[in-house]
Amino acid sequence: MTWTELGLPGTDPGGGPDAVAPGAPGGTGSTDTAADGADAGSAPAAVVDLVDVSRSFPGPPRVDALRGVSLRVDPGEYVSIIGPSGSGKSTLLNILGLLDRPTSGEYLLDGVPTGSASESVRSSLRGGRIGFVFQSFHLLPQRTVLDNVLLATLYSGVPRGEREERARTALERVHLTHRTTFHPTTLSGGERQRVAVARAIVAAPHLLLADEPTGNLDSTNSAEVMDLFDELHGDGLTLAVITHDPVVSARAQRRVRIADGRLEELDR
Ligand SMILES: Nc1ncnc2c1ncn2[C@@H]1O[C@H](COP(=O)(O)OP(=O)(O)OP(=O)(O)O)[C@@H](O)[C@H]1O
Ligand SMILES: [Mg+2]
Repeated sequence: MTWTELGLPGTDPGGGPDAVAPGAPGGTGSTDTAADGADAGSAPAAVVDLVDVSRSFPGPPRVDALRGVSLRVDPGEYVSIIGPSGSGKSTLLNILGLLDRPTSGEYLLDGVPTGSASESVRSSLRGGRIGFVFQSFHLLPQRTVLDNVLLATLYSGVPRGEREERARTALERVHLTHRTTFHPTTLSGGERQRVAVARAIVAAPHLLLADEPTGNLDSTNSAEVMDLFDELHGDGLTLAVITHDPVVSARAQRRVRIADGRLEELDR
C-alpha cells in the first residue's frame, strides 16, 4: 500500500468531506446523516469553522476560558496557535477535537454542525476525521512500535492484515520502517513522537491536532517533528498546532494567538 492509498485528502481528488477513512470508526458504511453535512457540488467546506465559540467553566470561581472565538481553517492549511499559559489553547483544542463542547457558539467540522450532535455522531467524526498528537507521546511501553500504531485501528472493523498494511504505510510515512519491532522506551524522543504521529494519521484524518507536540523534545528532535509536519502539510493534510515555542509556530503558514480566551490573527 502506498501513502496515497492511505487517503490523505490532498492526494485523493475523489475524497471530499464525506470520505471518512474506511478504517475509521464511522467509516464502515455508517448512514449518519450528520456525516453528510457538506453539500456535494458546492465549494469544499472549511475543515474547521468555529463561529463565536465561548467556553466557560462554572467554578466557582467561574472561568471564561474562550470568549467569542471565530476561526475558519480551510482544507490543507497549517495553522499554529500560540498564547501564554492559561490563555485557553488546550480548551480550544479540546473543542476542535470534539472532546468538549462549546458553552455557546457553533463548531462545524468539514461542514458538519457538531454542537448539538449526539455523542455517537461526534465520536464517529472524531475517529474518522481527526488525529491527535500530544506533548507526552502516550505510547504503550510494552508494545512494539508497529503494535502501537496498529492498535489505533483496532475497532475499525477492517481485517487485521489490512490494518497492519496501513500501520506499516503510516510508519513508512514518518520514516520509521527500521524501528517497527522496537519498543518505545528504546527510541529517542523525536522517534517516539513520530510513532505518535503515525498513530494519529493511520486512519487518514482530515485534521491533525497537536497540543505542544515538541514540548518534551530538545531542538534537534523538535526539528525532526516539525520537518514531518511540513511534509504532511505538503501532502494536503490540515494541521492545527498549539505551541509555546516561537520557532515551532513560525513553521506554520498561518499563525493565530490566543490571549485571555480571545483569538487574534497574527498573519496570513
Ligand atoms: N476543566 C476545567 N475546569 C475549570 N477550569 C478550567 C478547566 N480547564 C481549563 N480551565 C481553565 O481555563 C483556562 C484555560 O485553560 P487551558 O488549559 O485551555 O490553558 P492553556 O492555554 O492550554 O495553558 P497551558 O499553556 O498552560 O497548557 C485556565 O484558566 C484554566 O484554569
Ligand atoms: Mg494547554
